[in-house]
Amino acid sequence: MTTEIACAQWLQLQHKVCVVTGAASGIGLAIAEELARHGARLVLLDRNAELLNRAVEGFSARGIKASAVACDTTSEAQLVAAAEKVQQEQGAAQVLINCAGILRAGALDSMSLDDWNEVLSVNLSAYWLCSKAFGEQLRSHATAGGAGVVHVASIAAHFPQAYSGAYSAAKAGVCLLSRQIAIEWGADGVRSNVISPGMIRTPLSAGIYSHPGIELARAHMTASGRVGEPEDIAQVAAFLASPRAGYVNAAELVVDGGMSAKLMDMVPRPGFSPAGVS
Ligand SMILES: NC(=O)c1ccc[n+]([C@@H]2O[C@H](COP(=O)([O-])OP(=O)(O)OC[C@H]3O[C@@H](n4cnc5c(N)ncnc54)[C@H](O)[C@@H]3O)[C@@H](O)[C@H]2O)c1
Repeated sequence: MTTEIACAQWLQLQHKVCVVTGAASGIGLAIAEELARHGARLVLLDRNAELLNRAVEGFSARGIKASAVACDTTSEAQLVAAAEKVQQEQGAAQVLINCAGILRAGALDSMSLDDWNEVLSVNLSAYWLCSKAFGEQLRSHATAGGAGVVHVASIAAHFPQAYSGAYSAAKAGVCLLSRQIAIEWGADGVRSNVISPGMIRTPLSAGIYSHPGIELARAHMTASGRVGEPEDIAQVAAFLASPRAGYVNAAELVVDGGMSAKLMDMVPRPGFSPAGVS
């Protein structure tokens, strides 16, 4: 066996049906790429049908078969239909990655209730709806190695950013939802874990990095000295989803290049400059 094949098999994800939401772009797409590298059978869910088709074409151009369902994760009816299609065409899903998310900036004293509810709906309620829709399939693997659910939350679950509307509240909810899934379905072989990314360059955040100086300033805020890439999250997601993380349950992994450890380093002290500031 070549080293490359041995590495690809290490996570024991070959032929497992892996459903990824928000898979047409950014972190979700990178997670799908990583799962494919490990031989998984991909099911891509996204509401952006055009981007989704482009993603499927990208995979098939490289000989990777990925099935796709254009679907709004806030619609329970669409999710139930998607889950039925997956069961019929691929068999029961063994991995679910909840990643579809949105940002709606807004000040607490002026944002609309519609914006608040939309963020909670996509970033929190839909994570529950997806877990519910695929729950029976995931639990059906209880005697065959179990199943893995990975929810993409955010460092914003712990540290609110002003004018970010309901984003932090939704992401904090995801952390608790994940732990609740773990304790309700753990006996049925389902593990549920969270990844909280820090600053990752994706189409969602691309506009921010087009401003002069932002990239460098943000890089200085991390211990690793750089802004993260979608692959930084994808590799952790594949591990958490895999049987190699078989006793990791109800956990959260913060993947932020050490940004959240830098708080005290940013406090001004006479005689000391915060790291990266001369
Ligand atoms: N980029 C970052 O810096 C960052 C940091 C922390 C957490 N996150 C989280 O990572 C996840 C992915 O973000 P990204 O940066 O890759 O964004 P992105 O915009 O590149 O990708 C998000 C995808 O989700 C899809 N989507 C949105 N709402 C949907 C819905 N209702 N139904 C189905 N699909 C839907 C979009 O069409 C898009 O393809 C989000 O949950 C986001 O909150 C991102």
